[in-house]
Amino acid sequence: MRIIVTKSYDAMSMTAAKIIAGQIYLKPNSTLGLATGSTPLLMYKKLIDIHKSIGLDFSAVTSFNLDEYIGISPENPESYHYFMYNNFFKYINIMPKNIYIPDGMAADINKECHDYDQLIKNNGGIDLQVLGIGKNAHIGFNEPDIKFETTTHKVKLDDETIEANSRFFADAKQVPRYAISMGIKTIMFAKKIILLANGKNKAEAVFKAVTGKISPAAPASILQLHQDVIVIVDKEAGAMLPHVEN
Ligand code: F6R
Repeated sequence: MRIIVTKSYDAMSMTAAKIIAGQIYLKPNSTLGLATGSTPLLMYKKLIDIHKSIGLDFSAVTSFNLDEYIGISPENPESYHYFMYNNFFKYINIMPKNIYIPDGMAADINKECHDYDQLIKNNGGIDLQVLGIGKNAHIGFNEPDIKFETTTHKVKLDDETIEANSRFFADAKQVPRYAISMGIKTIMFAKKIILLANGKNKAEAVFKAVTGKISPAAPASILQLHQDVIVIVDKEAGAMLPHVEN
């Protein structure tokens, strides 16, 4: 694991954006794994800026999002489909046919999960996966559990996650209880992973991910077993980390 503690959210976002831009520059037909949420918002803005200023070309890029709520349509402003189109995809030249996000409205959710893993495999796997982290150390929507869920699957969201995500909804009751999420193995198969976190409410989760016992009770801790992970945090989220690179 490489750990980069940046001085600000802005610097965290720029560091991440440059890594993604470098990936696309070197391999224009890269497959990216993408996250939603507050954390990567500014990173997406920086990538849009890089696209506009130097013409970073997304036309051959394929993307797979980590997760989507079940029972929410792509037109719903709280859906992750909506988030991705409105915060990123509509500003770059990625081809709609190369964008994959789990379908939370699928009639057969188990089939949707199985097909999603298959699609990732058929595309040659994920070159670079972007992750945020939940306060409970979830990655994707892999919540703390007694075992690691391996493949893309249906998840029951934790009360803490529902509470955290209620900020985007009129009230907590409207937050869906279930989601589709890439599994831990789906994520771990990515060739390279960047984990982003900012703000002091993520400090403990980052500490557990980087230095804690590897356990499904802190899903992000599994990343310690990956050979190419860069953890990029701002000062607040990195506050509990020992000041060493490992
Ligand atoms: C989002 C996702 C989640 C978030 C995490 C942090 O696609 O998979 O794991 O990355 O919940 O969310 P924010 O960034 O809103 O704090």
